[in-house]
Amino acid sequence: MTSPFYITTPIYYVNAKPHIGHTYTTVSADVARRFQAMTGRDTFFLTGTDEHGDKIVKAAEKENITPRAYADRISRLFSDLWPEFNITNDYFVRTTDPAHIAVVQKILQQIYDAGDIYFSEYEGLYCFGCERFYTERELVDGKCPDHETPPESIRESNYFFKMSRYQQWLTDHITAHPEFIQPERYRNEVLAFLREPLEDLCISRPKSRLEWGITLPFDENYVTYVWFDALINYISALGFPDGEKFKKFWPHARHVVAKDILKPHGIYWPIMLKAAGIDMFKSLYVHGYWNIDESKMSKSLGNVVDPLELKSAYGTDAVRFFLMREMVFGLDAGFSEATLVERINTDLANDLGNLFSRVLAMFHKYFKGIVPEIDPAVRTGTAADLFDDTRQTIQEYTEEMAAFRFHKAISAVWNLISRMNKYVVTTAPWELAKDKGREDRLKAVMVNLLEGLRVISGLILPVMPETAQIMQKHLGIGKNTPLSTLDQISQWGTFAPGTALPGPVTLFPRIDTKKSNTGKSNTKKSNNGKAKNPSKSQNAPMPQNASETPEPPVLPALKPEITFEDVLKLDLRAATVVHAETIPKAKKLLRLTVDLGMEQRTVVAGIAKSYTPEDIIGKQIIVVANLKPAVLMGVESQGMLLAAVTDAGCATAALDREMAPGTPVK
Ligand code: MSP
Repeated sequence: MTSPFYITTPIYYVNAKPHIGHTYTTVSADVARRFQAMTGRDTFFLTGTDEHGDKIVKAAEKENITPRAYADRISRLFSDLWPEFNITNDYFVRTTDPAHIAVVQKILQQIYDAGDIYFSEYEGLYCFGCERFYTERELVDGKCPDHETPPESIRESNYFFKMSRYQQWLTDHITAHPEFIQPERYRNEVLAFLREPLEDLCISRPKSRLEWGITLPFDENYVTYVWFDALINYISALGFPDGEKFKKFWPHARHVVAKDILKPHGIYWPIMLKAAGIDMFKSLYVHGYWNIDESKMSKSLGNVVDPLELKSAYGTDAVRFFLMREMVFGLDAGFSEATLVERINTDLANDLGNLFSRVLAMFHKYFKGIVPEIDPAVRTGTAADLFDDTRQTIQEYTEEMAAFRFHKAISAVWNLISRMNKYVVTTAPWELAKDKGREDRLKAVMVNLLEGLRVISGLILPVMPETAQIMQKHLGIGKNTPLSTLDQISQWGTFAPGTALPGPVTLFPRIDTKKSNTGKSNTKKSNNGKAKNPSKSQNAPMPQNASETPEPPVLPALKPEITFEDVLKLDLRAATVVHAETIPKAKKLLRLTVDLGMEQRTVVAGIAKSYTPEDIIGKQIIVVANLKPAVLMGVESQGMLLAAVTDAGCATAALDREMAPGTPVK
């Protein structure tokens, strides 16, 4: 029986809006958690907000509101953001929660009673931005390395935590447990730091200077230093000391953080746990920084990348994929929208998307979408082409995912995709299809490809849950063939002969880089500060028959008034055109296949005078989805699209940002 898996992100400060850096950490934790759940482990995933301290007071003062109101507002931005990225956290902790406050006070009292906290006067160099004292050694050119401002010398009586007492113990623990801090470079960094004498940690702030914090249980004139308060969230959220979750998930914790907060997590936190007699967490995973043009993202530089803008331009899965694929976990990475678009076009649209739609299109062409009967030895795997490739991929992927090397796990899957794309070329199903005598080979090749795609759809799920779901729907994977564990993904021969599969789908429309506003390093610089999906309405073709300055049309008279209830009867939906073709002898009509999310439909549209099939494929349109089907020129039309229409031509109605197919239009 494998041990439970508890994963955390840092709890983010509520002094600024969430950005792509926070999103990276939280998506990493989500990917790790989804992967571990696939291995059959019990998992718990925590994120939240860090709400006390001087930073928050200052930010609230600027807005002229109380720290509490300010914290509520920004905390909400974080908790509302995570569902947008399909983050599956089990709990969202806030350090202003009474339950958290009680645990912080309990632990402070425990450590105080054990004699590890003392009161003393101290004069030191204090950075108000970081809310902590600095030693001379830590300063760069006499300045705080983070804020690049000189610290102020202050003299104060405060409470101190005897960290020095645990220095040797911590060095020994890290040396004996190579998995404790990963990747290795950060473990070495902490060990190097521990080679110098460790100073005791000032864990209080006098209320005369700062009131917004947790009162020390043994002196009501002081509040707790924000880091001592914040780190305890990792156990308070589990209901320390008696809660069921604490008993089950502690100490199986993996903390994910960036390099900026290595010291509190690699030094303070283990020592706090040790001093309080609490079992040690399992591992700290430290990643690098997302930079913009080689500088740090910061509000003052105005280069902060807004995750919601990226989502609305490119979609959740594309952003999740990019973040996980582009950054080598542990190293810094440069963020640029141009690289994001390139990855979407190459990895997603070309490699994965083309393979998927091409295989399904051939499958429908050759077998009308019905799984054929094939040789049992091929069906069950061992004798099947691609079987060994998938085994190797699953093994590599599992090792890399377990070690938080997400970029490598993704690479392993993309090697399989590339192998399958080559398999299509070398087996050339279109040639096999010409020869009746090679029908068995054609069937085997196509079923092998379906099996491979099924494995891929399972493996990409932790990174791209929506895409995995769409792929699985189009592969006919349902309740009878679940695909939620690695064991299930590793099966082969699951396509029962006679099963009908839904039609092909475009997973990722290509983004037209010529027409896009990309090539810039960040979305902030783009038009109105908004990233746009260039594959959308701005690029709608000019109606072919329209002149440069069209004659104003003769407008028809308005129709009789209807009620609001009449309007509500219309079921309008966003739909993506996945296929389009002309209809013989019907000059005005195009036969469209549109993706409505839950299903694909045929819609016959009178737009052929203004659009060629190529113009309209990949576009998002609005469809009347509850229109009674009607047969037009021999083709059943299962809906109708909205367009502005004149005698000279038409323009289809579109949404001004891409929405999931099937989204209601109200
Ligand atoms: N409140 C503390 C953490 C307390 S945890 C007990 C804090 N908050 S923070 O809002 O500043 O968040 C820092 C974390 O946000 C980083 O460790 C990292 O997870 C994420 N990131 C912030 N900027 C980032 C980048 N530019 N790049 C990558 N991650 C970044 O520190």
